[in-house]
Amino acid sequence: MRLDNCLNFKDFRKLANKKLPSPVFHYIDGAADDEVTYRRNTSAFDDVDLIPNVLRGVKDVDLSTTIFGKKIDLPFYCSPTALQRIFHYEGERAVAKAAQKFNTMFGVSSLATVSVEEISNLVDTPKMFQFYYHKDKGLNNSILQRAKDANFDVMALTVDTITGGNRERDIRTGFTSPPKFTLSSIFSYVTKPTWAINYLTKGKFELPHLQEYVKEGTNTAISIGNYFSTMLDQDMNWKDAEKLCSDWGGHFALKGILSVEDAKRAVDIGCTGIVVSNHGGRQLDGARSPFDQLADIVEAVGDKVDVICEGGIQRGTHMLKALSLGAKACAGGRLYLYALAAAGQVGVEKALSIYKTELERDMKLMGCKKISDLSTNNIKFK
Ligand code: LAC
Repeated sequence: MRLDNCLNFKDFRKLANKKLPSPVFHYIDGAADDEVTYRRNTSAFDDVDLIPNVLRGVKDVDLSTTIFGKKIDLPFYCSPTALQRIFHYEGERAVAKAAQKFNTMFGVSSLATVSVEEISNLVDTPKMFQFYYHKDKGLNNSILQRAKDANFDVMALTVDTITGGNRERDIRTGFTSPPKFTLSSIFSYVTKPTWAINYLTKGKFELPHLQEYVKEGTNTAISIGNYFSTMLDQDMNWKDAEKLCSDWGGHFALKGILSVEDAKRAVDIGCTGIVVSNHGGRQLDGARSPFDQLADIVEAVGDKVDVICEGGIQRGTHMLKALSLGAKACAGGRLYLYALAAAGQVGVEKALSIYKTELERDMKLMGCKKISDLSTNNIKFK
């Protein structure tokens, strides 16, 4: 498998598996418990059929949409994900530049390996900052201020990681941040020498938003599950979210909403968007898939806030179905992470280009010229 031969999501996944040491691959690829939710996130799309219209003159298709007050050229964006320089030495720099080429949004994690200041100097396209609410309030204030000063457009507070998910693949492989080279794991690293050389020579591993406040994740190796369980504030509640929303003072989303009740409350505290998500199946196994839950959430709050469908998306037709149900945009992590691991910026660009081409083709076949042409009239649940 080479980049030239990658035609779809599954191909990027295969290539990533070839390039990455197995603990790193399984960190991206894995999910919680029996990974039922992880699989359902994608299979949910199969329960809906598309009903195309024809003879609509579809030569020119416009894929643009407006989310959080910003027009982007694609109705999907790169979700914030952690630790990207472990997957490829270019890390967030590669994803930011690729997203800019397609004029779509790019999310930067609290656990990013490149700083908000650097990203902001690098690209001028819309940017989301993902916020983890830590026990250390000094750290919370610092990351909020830095994202504000770096002119990030949207703040997304993650609300589905109140404790670590049971990610058994990570327990088995011993994956930590930073990666730990132990007697039992060293074999998987030395068998991927290109990865190992790049990791060791292309700049020190850092978590620039956290390292002045916490040593875990940067100087002390810790699993991501443990990081969530020990560093994040389990008392976080609606009052805290409301305060953060008002302290931020701009577009604000809750990321990881699944219940209609919570979606309504998000509107009440001043959110301008919600990301319907179960964290890629990595937290609560058995949680409903974002696509399965989308219609109810759109019905409840879709006229008040931007509803984003995040999780399980692997194809243009998946996006088409979510947009038809009223999502303003789709988003994904693995959607571009395998491609990042496979080939850095060119890999991510290739992935985004494939999804764009698929979506354009699918829109034409559906008889739709613009995203707002998509509606529930075009789909039917089996
Ligand atoms: C994860 C976090 C860091 O799912 O988003 O691993």
